[in-house]
Amino acid sequence: MIFLAKIAEIPDGERKLIEVNGVDVAVFHVGDRFYALNNACPHRQGPLSRGTLENWGEGPICAIRCPMHGWKFDLATGDSHGRPGNATVYPLIRQNDELYIEL
Ligand code: FES
Repeated sequence: MIFLAKIAEIPDGERKLIEVNGVDVAVFHVGDRFYALNNACPHRQGPLSRGTLENWGEGPICAIRCPMHGWKFDLATGDSHGRPGNATVYPLIRQNDELYIEL
């Protein structure tokens, strides 16, 4: 378990790119949830931390759209819903006002 960030560093609706042991991790805060994904899009390594937060259809915001070619990934699972590659999602642990990650 590796310290990632203090919750206050990532306001609701924001994201932060954090390097952990040489891995670029994009951390997103959406409502009362936090998500951690490998920053490299599985298509051509586009920076997911610079993507757009979106929903699937009518639902709440739960996905990130890559800024390079528009592939979209579920924030919780990395599922691309049919594209030939999924994003890598890391387990996050929330303890008091801090976030920890397992790579
Ligand atoms: S690099 Fe992300 S969609 Fe192409």
